[in-house]
Amino acid sequence: MNAFDRIIGYSSIKKELRQISDTLKNPSAYEKLGVTAPRGLLLYGVPGVGKSLMASAVVEDSGLRAFVLRKDLPNGDFVKEIKSVFKKAAENAPAVIYLDDMDKFANGDERHPDAEEYVTVQSCIDEVKNEAVFVLATANNIRRLPDSLLRAGRIDRRIKVEPPRGRDAEEIIAHYIKRRKFADDVDVKSVAHIMDGRSCAELETLINEAGLYAGYEKAEKITMDHFMAAYLRTVMNSPAVGEDVGADLSDADENYRRVVYHEAGHAVVSEVLCPGSITLINVRGNGSDCGGFTDYFGDGSASYLYREKLRIIGTLGGIAATEQKFGLSNTGGSRDLDTAFNSVRDLVVNDCICGFHLHSNEYGDSERLQSEQEQVISSEVERYFRKAKEILSLNSEFLEELAAALAKKTLLSAVDVKKIRERCEIVSVAI
Ligand SMILES: Nc1ncnc2c1ncn2[C@@H]1O[C@H](COP(=O)(O)OP(=O)(O)OP(=O)(O)O)[C@@H](O)[C@H]1O
Ligand SMILES: [Mg+2]
Repeated sequence: MNAFDRIIGYSSIKKELRQISDTLKNPSAYEKLGVTAPRGLLLYGVPGVGKSLMASAVVEDSGLRAFVLRKDLPNGDFVKEIKSVFKKAAENAPAVIYLDDMDKFANGDERHPDAEEYVTVQSCIDEVKNEAVFVLATANNIRRLPDSLLRAGRIDRRIKVEPPRGRDAEEIIAHYIKRRKFADDVDVKSVAHIMDGRSCAELETLINEAGLYAGYEKAEKITMDHFMAAYLRTVMNSPAVGEDVGADLSDADENYRRVVYHEAGHAVVSEVLCPGSITLINVRGNGSDCGGFTDYFGDGSASYLYREKLRIIGTLGGIAATEQKFGLSNTGGSRDLDTAFNSVRDLVVNDCICGFHLHSNEYGDSERLQSEQEQVISSEVERYFRKAKEILSLNSEFLEELAAALAKKTLLSAVDVKKIRERCEIVSVAI
């Protein structure tokens, strides 16, 4: 197995790392061409995205001896350590100096670009500039580092490592799932949707945590429910599934039923307009509010305008459902209304979907323009609200089935929503 095979996904970064490693393995090929290979590489990004994994793959692939520096000594001793490690690397050249978490070399949370540690690293890099010593560094916060350290001839290559998305996230999840006993209902795409934007370390921890829930239940396999329980507990800080708080809709009190229909309303509208767009529905809240939440994943293939409309109508679906079931009173409705108004305002004044005459100009709008904009915005919100109600009344079977399942289970994953959608008759509506 090649060192880079341990890095799942991230194909363009891997390609760049392979090229850098090649300059270390075959320096003469570059010297012959008269070109100067990079002297150093900084991998930066939020914690847990695989920077250290990538750095160690470069070291391993290059076959060079590595000298590692990590801030694990008091200040004065650490400065001495920096000098001694650079000296050893130069004596053993060709070699790699690996500065792990370089932005932690100086003390404190503030920016200290002129800290003794950075000044020392910089002068040490300059001292070894005629030796075959490559500097490989990782950092979370690049702004903490002095610019001079990152200039040409020092650590002159930079790669930003972002949390995995789309295919990368799916590949990483599939990799972690493969090594554990997961049930067939665990759908990598749904997990990737739910975990969109999370780091690799979070993905790994979550998947392992799901296994712990399964183990505690003495289950044969890890199911989507175990995964959702782990997700709710660790990411959303919400009570986990298994702590039996669900109820039959008919037995539940009105407050709980309102929350249930509100969340089911969001989900039905979104799923009718864009099947598969709901990643989870929860009616337990996350500690900060007592209602529920519904998590959407936009359809990347749809146009920007369609996605925006989908989001707005989906947002209004909660209020539309509670209005339909309980009259005007609703739960968590004002926040949804603010969201809908803000999104519609954006479409009207910036994207000019109702005409250029409503465009806000940068020198300030006249009172007349502002009042015209407000009128159009509220009538657009009304129009989208009517659409949400139309979708719900045409799909009342789906709404009732979803609400009943949600009330009982308190949490539905994308897989649960899909099963319910497939057994109901869905009437699509153009928007
Ligand atoms: N692309 C990937 N493929 C497989 N595993 C990965 C990937 N990226 C990260 N991991 C795993 O995630 C965990 C965290 O990775 P790593 O320690 O390299 O992150 P980091 O970016 O250096 O974090 P920090 O900023 O906290 O030092 C490790 O267990 C690592 O093996
Ligand atoms: Mg690291």
